Amino acid sequence: MEHEHILVIDDDEGLLQLLKMRLSAMGFAVTPCTTGKAALAEAKKTMFNLAITDLRLNGENGLEVTEELLRLRPDLPVIILTAHGSIPNAVEAMQRGAFGYLTKPFDDKELKETIEKALSQQRMTLEIQRLKSLVKELYGLENVVARSPAMQQLFQQVAQVADSDATILLFGETGTGKEVMARVIHTNSRRSKGPFVALNCAAIQETLFESELFGHVRGAFTSAHGPKKGLFQSANGGTLFLDEVGEMPLSMQVKLLRAVQEREVREVGSELSTKVDVRIIAATNKDLGEAVKNGSFRNDLYYRLSVVPLHIPPLRERRDDIPLLAQHFLKMSVKRANKDVRGFTPAALHRLVINPWAGNVRELENAIEKAVVLSRQDMITPDLLPSVSASAESQLKPLTEAKEEFERAYLKNLLQLTGGNISRAAQFAGRYRADFYKMLRKYGLHPSTTKGMAEEEIEELEGDQKLIKS
Ligand SMILES: Nc1ncnc2c1ncn2[C@@H]1O[C@H](COP(=O)(O)OP(=O)(O)OP(=O)(O)O)[C@@H](O)[C@H]1O
Ligand SMILES: [Mg+2]
Repeated sequence: MEHEHILVIDDDEGLLQLLKMRLSAMGFAVTPCTTGKAALAEAKKTMFNLAITDLRLNGENGLEVTEELLRLRPDLPVIILTAHGSIPNAVEAMQRGAFGYLTKPFDDKELKETIEKALSQQRMTLEIQRLKSLVKELYGLENVVARSPAMQQLFQQVAQVADSDATILLFGETGTGKEVMARVIHTNSRRSKGPFVALNCAAIQETLFESELFGHVRGAFTSAHGPKKGLFQSANGGTLFLDEVGEMPLSMQVKLLRAVQEREVREVGSELSTKVDVRIIAATNKDLGEAVKNGSFRNDLYYRLSVVPLHIPPLRERRDDIPLLAQHFLKMSVKRANKDVRGFTPAALHRLVINPWAGNVRELENAIEKAVVLSRQDMITPDLLPSVSASAESQLKPLTEAKEEFERAYLKNLLQLTGGNISRAAQFAGRYRADFYKMLRKYGLHPSTTKGMAEEEIEELEGDQKLIKS
């Protein structure tokens, strides 16, 4: 284990050295400072576990130094050293956040006891912090990969709205992680202890829609043998996730609109409306704006649902996430398949990164699951992964390479079109002839190989060539 690190502040050089020796002998790392200013500078550089400061420093006040240290590091325990008779000051120091005090002179035993107490309190604080962040990860972000700038930006937006009750519309292509994001929002909201209820609007029968959403009383219709709670009520105090909301028939949209607007539901067969406290997150892979224009989605409902619209970018627009996602899915598939696969060969990873992934994260997940099942070695090789078209390969060449390829094809084409007439070709390209010729040379394109080139053009060119060379 690493030594715990103590910051010691005393303007008396002799005492400072003595204290340093005593603390080092107890097994601590020690940074001695003779001024509060120096100590603060040190505290900015090093995460100390504890600070010990004399109350009376030359020209400075130990209390103020303590306060400044705490402002910098609120969890840092600070022990004050006081001369006999200044105990009221020490008490004041504790009121201002110091951990405790020692009255000079003190022996090793007292010193050690006070330090141990302070450190154990600090260890506990750190442990609680660690556990808190662990819990948050467990229920929120541990399994969500979002390293790319596009996703980081999205998470910043999510962080801003998660804790409000604002209705959110998640839109993005199929498999981009809309449901994942809805859960992240719920888990990071103050409703996280409440239920998360998901409804797939595309899967629900029109005739049952109302009773599913709002519930029904006993005998409301022939098959209603008992009363049934609706999803709105089930989500009370939590979040209702309306997935594929764009697939909903217009007749249902009217009914949903009322509930969303009023936050009030009426069970089928009942006269009374009841208030519900739900946060609504809707998701769609349709262009709802377009659906409104062509009349398949109600404008007023769209307006109600898209209070905060959040776009989940397709995977091809955040390829930086692919290696991490791949590794994440590999880990999970390996566990499920009980296999011994460690990772991807560089060629396999390359193939994953350049794939257009029309089915987005879900398609990637399935591809890796399949590769793991098929694998016979400890690394996934490209042959186990979906193949990528040549055009996708070329899309992902480095810019200079792609540019050169384009330029070469362009020049060749131009020469053919102009029948090898360099003047005209150069004119088309918006270049001086000398420049144009330079470009031809760069790509090893010799105009004399171009069919239909006039003799004089070739002579002219040879002249140009000399000109360039000289
Ligand atoms: N950022 C991510 N990190 C880890 N896994 C993810 C991430 N995004 C999506 N997934 C996984 O990809 C799959 C698809 O995600 P999800 O179901 O949330 O997508 P969707 O946008 O709701 O898709 P659809 O439009 O088809 O309903 C799930 O298995 C999910 O766990
Ligand atoms: Mg979904």
